[in-house]
Amino acid sequence: MKLFDVYPINQIEISKGKGSFVWDKNGVEYLDMYGGHAVISIGHCHPHWVRKLQHQTETLAFYSNSIIIALQEELADLLGKISKKEDYQLFLVNSGAEANENALKLASFHTGRKKVVAFKKGFHGRTSLAVAATDNPALVAPINETDNIIFSDLNDIEALTDIFKNQGDKIAAVIVEGIQGIGGIHVCTDEFLLAIRSLCDQYGSVYIADSVQCGYGRSGIFYAHDSAGVNADIYTMAKGMGNGFPIGGISIAPDLKPKHGMLGTTFGGNHLACAAAIAVLEVIRDENLLENTIKMGALLMKGLSQLPGINNLRGKGLMIGWDPDEPNKDIRSKLLNNQHIFTGSAKPNVVRLLPSLAINENECNQFLSAISQELQVTKDEAIHIGA
Ligand SMILES: Cc1ncc(COP(=O)(O)O)c(C=O)c1O
Repeated sequence: MKLFDVYPINQIEISKGKGSFVWDKNGVEYLDMYGGHAVISIGHCHPHWVRKLQHQTETLAFYSNSIIIALQEELADLLGKISKKEDYQLFLVNSGAEANENALKLASFHTGRKKVVAFKKGFHGRTSLAVAATDNPALVAPINETDNIIFSDLNDIEALTDIFKNQGDKIAAVIVEGIQGIGGIHVCTDEFLLAIRSLCDQYGSVYIADSVQCGYGRSGIFYAHDSAGVNADIYTMAKGMGNGFPIGGISIAPDLKPKHGMLGTTFGGNHLACAAAIAVLEVIRDENLLENTIKMGALLMKGLSQLPGINNLRGKGLMIGWDPDEPNKDIRSKLLNNQHIFTGSAKPNVVRLLPSLAINENECNQFLSAISQELQVTKDEAIHIGA
């Protein structure tokens, strides 16, 4: 049987990981500045995470959501404390798409409405509603097409206000990434997030903060959206939540009331997934990874801002992107092939850095030194920097 060929892949087989590094099957070491799509939050195979998973595997791996699962309560308690949302409610799923699908569904149940405002270049996953709210027609199958999604421009308060003026009474939810990831690292302004909050309040719509990529500490605060100083009604999360063990969740404001049967899943919130997620939060707390994210993000930003060939450097914390100039458009493959460093991309040619939140100063400096060896200096830049 062959694999269904949907992924363009690098011809590298990774067989081991530790912290910010991975090794291929021939023992070649790579610095991982990508974390496999922003998934590695506390470092590959962190010993605390490994121990927790080992213990849980030997004790009980799974039982369904028809019995008391104390680990879910422990996870909810810890997440509430670390994310500063102790009065919120947690529903557990298995992936980012599922988190957004359930958030949108819940918003529709809550409001009795059908319309959703989403943003251009946004990505919310590949299930039915999540993909409909994703601004990439290539991913939308005919069966996913719907008139219920209204796309607007990110950070355009006027356009959003007009949409609400015209059809606010039909809008169930606004879904927005605090920092667009796959769209190319575009940061929401605090003013824009404040406007979303106040329009949702005014029209009785639900503010959904897609934190699947930008959340879980990646921006240096737990949820990137919270930089605006207001709460969303629902935060969706996945990726960094399990450090590679599949788990997602939605954190739901107290005024959204549950009803038996309203949402459900077989695997969501299973014992193993909860053990992984608890281990991640304990490491984030005990190793001060939010603080580390701010420091290491600043170090990378400062270093990159002094290098040639890097246009529109942007991002927050350890979610960083830029547009390489023309002579450096193949910088990612140079980093991979010559320097053995993984980075991420976004269309049309954005470089994305999404390393572990536990990355240290030496590893950041290793990256900066490696990239400075690979970047080409144009004539204009050489004159500018006196080279
Ligand atoms: C912002 C955002 N939302 C949702 C998703 C979907 O997550 P998953 O691939 O776990 O379904 C992604 C995945 O990249 C994402 O970046």
